[in-house]
Amino acid sequence: MSETWAAADGTIITIRPVCPEDLAIEREFVRGLSASTGYRRLMSARRLSLEELRHFTKIDQERELALIATTPVQGKERQIGVARYVRESSPGDAEFAIVLSDDWQGRGLGSKLLSSLLAAAKNNGLRRLVGTTMSENAGMLALGRKLGFKLARDPDSATITNLTIDLAGWSPKGASSIDDCR
Ligand SMILES: CC(C)(COP(=O)(O)OP(=O)(O)OC[C@H]1O[C@@H](n2cnc3c(N)ncnc32)[C@H](O)[C@@H]1OP(=O)(O)O)[C@@H](O)C(=O)NCCC(=O)NCCS
Repeated sequence: MSETWAAADGTIITIRPVCPEDLAIEREFVRGLSASTGYRRLMSARRLSLEELRHFTKIDQERELALIATTPVQGKERQIGVARYVRESSPGDAEFAIVLSDDWQGRGLGSKLLSSLLAAAKNNGLRRLVGTTMSENAGMLALGRKLGFKLARDPDSATITNLTIDLAGWSPKGASSIDDCR
């Protein structure tokens, strides 16, 4: 299943669960990220290996969900973002992460994509999503606040901020739940 969203400039974006067949567009997407965006996502300067990218597209559907945002460019589907969660060992909890291509940051896509992930997480019975970001990541902090996450400096490192949202108290505001691959 998928949903569509119209950006402010009229671009139509598809949001759908990732599939193993998406390896090539996921690879292009990751290759296109600037060093700064890659660093903010991984909190490290390393680049993802092909094996990791395979793992990110061939997910364990019992534990994980990854929603990708795509748009057609010159007749080809281009990936412009991904938001994912992975269940943690404590029941009802999952950790999330999100990254958008540089040219799509600050245009509302992060709000839309993360809302869709939250709706799917709630629909799948999760109670809480948690994430970590660098405390200087103004974009992620603003997005978290906007969607209702609680923000707290990590007790072990002031450079890290933990984000937590209680899904029982969160309402989707128009987001439909999508979690089937294609
Ligand atoms: C963090 C990220 C997902 C945010 O998505 P986005 O599409 O840029 O955010 P949006 O455009 O939906 O903006 C959400 C809110 O944050 C605000 N915002 C966005 N970027 C901001 C910035 N750099 N500084 C301050 N506020 C910012 C917006 O104004 C908006 O608030 P509003 O609707 O009240 O105006 C995206 O910028 C990104 O991929 N960054 C690189 C990777 C990363 O940092 N990932 C997070 C680690 S898990």
